[in-house]
Amino acid sequence: MVCVQPASLADAEAIHHLVTFWADRGDMLHRPLGEVFESIRDFKVARDSGVVTGCGALHILGPDIAEVRSLAVREDAQGSGVGAAIVAACVAEARSLGIERVFALTYRPGFFEKQGFRVADVMEFPQKVWSECVRCPFFANCREIAVVLDLRQP
Ligand SMILES: CC(C)(COP(=O)(O)OP(=O)(O)OC[C@H]1O[C@@H](n2cnc3c(N)ncnc32)[C@H](O)[C@@H]1OP(=O)(O)O)[C@@H](O)C(=O)NCCC(=O)NCCS
Repeated sequence: MVCVQPASLADAEAIHHLVTFWADRGDMLHRPLGEVFESIRDFKVARDSGVVTGCGALHILGPDIAEVRSLAVREDAQGSGVGAAIVAACVAEARSLGIERVFALTYRPGFFEKQGFRVADVMEFPQKVWSECVRCPFFANCREIAVVLDLRQP
């Protein structure tokens, strides 16, 4: 049973450390500590005996769409359902807010497919591309893959 909770300001440095660890290895994009503080209300953390073992954020981009971002699990906690539990908590929050689509840009599309997402064209998310991606140094050579989960009723 993985415990996922809203992050507190006291978790910001642990979140920054975790994201930096994987970003240094090329698995995700860096997030400056200041940006983690600014978006701390977006973040959720998983804990084991009080220690942060994983993090992820649900960032709202519009009335019907949100992004799961900065998803990272400690190396020694991987493969035990932490990542899946954080994504599930983000999706549950999105549902409760009436959000229709949750997407992510990721180097690990297979992980998200296991959580019910499908691979998508990034241009399905113009809010992201034209507000944030254009400012990213990797914009011209982006290797991230878009994935989306549709929460609308069939
Ligand atoms: C990708 C990541 C978040 C997965 O977290 P995790 O806690 O190890 O994953 P879980 O244990 O919750 O795995 C859930 C399921 O996804 C599968 N899975 C995990 N990583 C996967 C991957 N890279 N590709 C495909 N499937 C994967 C697991 O086998 C498991 O399958 P099951 O439900 O059939 O048992 C984690 O490996 C990580 O932090 N990686 C470094 C940062 C990163 O790549 N972030 C990705 C978002 S940008």
